Amino acid sequence: MAELNGQWRVPLADIDLGPEEEAAVLDVLRRRWLTMGGVTAAFEADFAALTGAEHALAVTNCTAALHLAGLALGWGPGDEVIVPSLTFVATANAVRYCGATPVFADVTSADDLSLSPDDVAARLSPRTRAIVVVHYGGYAADMPALLALAGRHGLDVVEDVAHAPGASLDGRALGTWGRIGCFSFFSNKNMTTGEGGMLTTDDDALAERLRLLRSHGMTTLTWDRHRGHAFSYDVVAPGYNYRIDELRAAIGRAQLAKLPGNNRRRAQLDAAYRALLPAAAPGLALPYAAPRGVSAHHLRPALLPPGVDRTAFMTAMKERGIQTSIHYPPVHRFSYYRRAEGPALPITEAVAAREVTLPLYPGMSAGDVEVVVAAVAEALAVTLDEDSRPTVGLTALAV
Ligand SMILES: Cc1ncc(COP(=O)(O)O)c(C=O)c1O
Repeated sequence: MAELNGQWRVPLADIDLGPEEEAAVLDVLRRRWLTMGGVTAAFEADFAALTGAEHALAVTNCTAALHLAGLALGWGPGDEVIVPSLTFVATANAVRYCGATPVFADVTSADDLSLSPDDVAARLSPRTRAIVVVHYGGYAADMPALLALAGRHGLDVVEDVAHAPGASLDGRALGTWGRIGCFSFFSNKNMTTGEGGMLTTDDDALAERLRLLRSHGMTTLTWDRHRGHAFSYDVVAPGYNYRIDELRAAIGRAQLAKLPGNNRRRAQLDAAYRALLPAAAPGLALPYAAPRGVSAHHLRPALLPPGVDRTAFMTAMKERGIQTSIHYPPVHRFSYYRRAEGPALPITEAVAAREVTLPLYPGMSAGDVEVVVAAVAEALAVTLDEDSRPTVGLTALAV
């Protein structure tokens, strides 16, 4: 990664990989059992302990986790599932995999980029079956309000916790508020296994269903047979092969051990951005001024002042060696989903047009944050035309 990131003075993200992961992988190789087995079981136990979930099931990636969640909850043709549009497309694609229809709802405000409970309420129909909540950037969505709404209407809540391992709200881990939590260990996430994911649930029957669907609908695993615990198996559902493997589970265990410390480091770096950016870049809004609970600080989103050409800004940042990104191009605007477009999503559209994500990863130094802040100030100065320079600071950004 260091080599890949060589072109950047400060990349958008970087992973914390070291001797712990190397030793863990070597140990698996030497034990000569590579597919899902004892190391995966230990990884799942560690993850259940971190979140307080009754069950944790490791899977190929978060997209597979979301798919299995929908299948286990019985989503199918004719069902509507409410999702944010300000998310990675996998959140909506997984609903489509089940044959159900994603219905996009707006986010709360320019400060809270997760689902608006009021807007979700406005999108309910007799066909609504569930809500998929995304904890954008590692920040908790308004789970009490969303769960209350879901409870009133008999809806299931699934949490897309791709950004928020280790985050909590009112002392309860994100991913354990809804019926099922879906985590990602993709390589730009707070903890990584390359590709990988985890399902969490407190429901024994759901856990059993998820376990079956993860591995072809088979009643025993190759691992069970290897250990002499079974000789054959039945198939009770048309399941999938969404298993993780021991190499990635071993990396996951090492990464999980570092997660609390790395999340704390992210919080410090984010606080440094918050301390420096308002003076250096007036007019740039920083969402989540007063976040709910304990964030995982996966992303540092910023909203550019009106009048700034985002591509020019990102190009100016690139010229200064700083990688930036956009989270997200709204899903309802993609060609495939435009057909399913419902009523307008004004806050999503306003936010998505101005959002730029700044570098944030535990290996950043305080000096790196200063370099990014200085580059933001310069990039704004060269891209903001005279007439658009904000005179009223952050209020210029209210949407
Ligand atoms: C919000 C969100 N949901 C789902 C996913 C899909 O995760 P994975 O790449 O592990 O399938 C991602 C990954 O980028 C994500 O950011």
